[in-house]
Amino acid sequence: MLGTDPKERIYVPIADDLDTVIANISSVAETDGPGPPPEIEARLAQVLATPGKRIRPAITLLASKLWGRIPDERTIKMATAVELLHIASLIHDDTVDSADTRRGHATASNLWGGNIAVLLGDFVFATSATFVCDTNSVRLIRRFAQTIAELSRGELNEILESWSLKTNRDRYLQRIYDKTASLFSTSAESGAVLGESDEDSVANLREYGYNLGMAYQVLDDLLDYESNAEQLGKPTANDLSNGVLTLPAILAIESGEARSEISTYLSATDNERPHLLTVAYDAICGSDALERSRFIANDYIDASLKNLESVPESESKEALVQLTGYIRDRQF
Ligand code: FPP
Ligand code: MG
Repeated sequence: MLGTDPKERIYVPIADDLDTVIANISSVAETDGPGPPPEIEARLAQVLATPGKRIRPAITLLASKLWGRIPDERTIKMATAVELLHIASLIHDDTVDSADTRRGHATASNLWGGNIAVLLGDFVFATSATFVCDTNSVRLIRRFAQTIAELSRGELNEILESWSLKTNRDRYLQRIYDKTASLFSTSAESGAVLGESDEDSVANLREYGYNLGMAYQVLDDLLDYESNAEQLGKPTANDLSNGVLTLPAILAIESGEARSEISTYLSATDNERPHLLTVAYDAICGSDALERSRFIANDYIDASLKNLESVPESESKEALVQLTGYIRDRQF
């Protein structure tokens, strides 16, 4: 299923396996036995049908091939698990954020309300765990469970630090590790483990995933300032309007360029808020914080490339290199 999207070319070495992952994901809505009742099945099918970028399962599959192995059933199950966990976390995230759209489509919470959305997310989330169990690797099951805890901790800290100036660069970096880089890191590490690489290489791939995930989230946070909603398929200035300070805002506070505007906005009354949001947003966009955020993301991209240096040359390695460029240049 190769399209014209540049990342589809990156996925060429694993195209068939990625199709199997997608088929596995669709099958979650068709579970026999203790699966969802029919009216839920349709909603689940709808939630699972919206194609994402499939970056995480692609990383698992590509990493597993770096030492010459062909992805086996266990690797495909692991790749399915990381994508399902990602989908579940987005369903929950959109509910928590009260986001109306994702990937250009109405979110589950928008369509059916928060209660249904959380429980649908739980269903997907629990199903992801059964796919990891099919790898028969306690090591991977443990790492996956830790990742779930990290995702939840990241999201909790984001909420607890919202509408206040108590966040800072270190807290932000921990938060984006938890909510994003952790799963990227687990995707890459699990591929290396299932590809039977040595422990030094597993550590390198884990770091590759970490650095790529950090770059991904810094750039995602930057796009929230730089893109328009139509391009992005989800609302922009969403973070600031939810009281969440991401790297551009934190850098503009650190440098003093938008400190007073952000501080005034965070303590505003409901009536004043829309106007003060624009003032704070404009002050951040008028500072050099966006450019400095991009430098920081590029440093993570460079670090991820370094993590691949000792990996033997192959088309899968080249694809992982290309993926860093895709993430660096992503506009939406
Ligand atoms: C999107 O980030 C959100 C995440 C990457 C993680 C969300 C994690 C949870 C809700 C934790 C609990 C869920 C489970 C199933 C363990 P973002 O809000 O910055 O990106 P966005 O702009 O695309 O919404
Ligand atoms: Mg969100």
